[in-house]
Amino acid sequence: MILLGILSDHRAAKSASPAMHNRVLEVCGLAGAYLPFEVAAGDVGPAVAGLKALGFAGANVTVPHKQAVMPFVDELTGEAEAIGAVNTIVNRNGRLTGDNTDARGFAAALSETGFQASGKHVLVIGAGGASRAVLHALAGLEPASLTVAARNRDSAAELAAPAGARPASLKEAAAADLGQQLIVNCTSVSGPDESAEMAAWAAGLRVKGLEMVCDINYGRSDNFWAGMAAARGADFSDGLAMLAHQARLSFAAWTGLEVKVAEFRAGLGVGR
Ligand code: ATR
Repeated sequence: MILLGILSDHRAAKSASPAMHNRVLEVCGLAGAYLPFEVAAGDVGPAVAGLKALGFAGANVTVPHKQAVMPFVDELTGEAEAIGAVNTIVNRNGRLTGDNTDARGFAAALSETGFQASGKHVLVIGAGGASRAVLHALAGLEPASLTVAARNRDSAAELAAPAGARPASLKEAAAADLGQQLIVNCTSVSGPDESAEMAAWAAGLRVKGLEMVCDINYGRSDNFWAGMAAARGADFSDGLAMLAHQARLSFAAWTGLEVKVAEFRAGLGVGR
């Protein structure tokens, strides 16, 4: 029996991960279950210890606990340490390893689009946890330049340093003539109803030669990043591909099985 789950807050109930992983367990003929767990901030330690005590094969961790779980695992992978967050816990014979599959998930999703970041100029927007993983992935793809823009320039500078990126404020980016071929939205906003200000900022960017826009969010009926890409003749990819790829990588760490990403996408209700 393979026991898996996702540790989050009240958002656990809305997570797409249980449907994805339960479907793949079934496809693989494995008896088991992947459950959502709402964990209070003060219970993160006992929840992680519980994974071990109950013999879970592992778990995903998402907002707001990606940093909080770090002291409670037995070891961290180099990637989790470099990103400063854990999205996957793996139980190997009673030893819990904190890993992070977000960066590799993003890199795989980007590669699937056919866009090659090597030698290209790249702009990442936002300075939260998702930006950290995306910057880590992009820094490894050897872009010609990497810039991170956020409304708080100090947060952008803090994230930029370990990735060798240049920081900018949203104001600075909007005032300049940009030459980025790839823009990645790592803020939590993608719909005009979420932030009319950000929608206007994206629409007003003066960017020449844009080829690709990636959004880490998904499920927005009116996505202004998609609109920005379309208006400039660039391709667009939303966060579903990254979600499916990070799930594929986590599942492989738990079970040792390399399952096609299409099986995870199918669990999200997205066509194969
Ligand atoms: P996560 O950890 O999942 O990336 P987060 O920490 O909430 O989520 O970070 C989201 C990012 O989106 C942050 O950089 C946030 O900006 P601040 O650091 O200034 O809070 C950014 N963000 C959220 N709402 C925004 C908005 N309306 N306009 C611009 N940036 C926004």
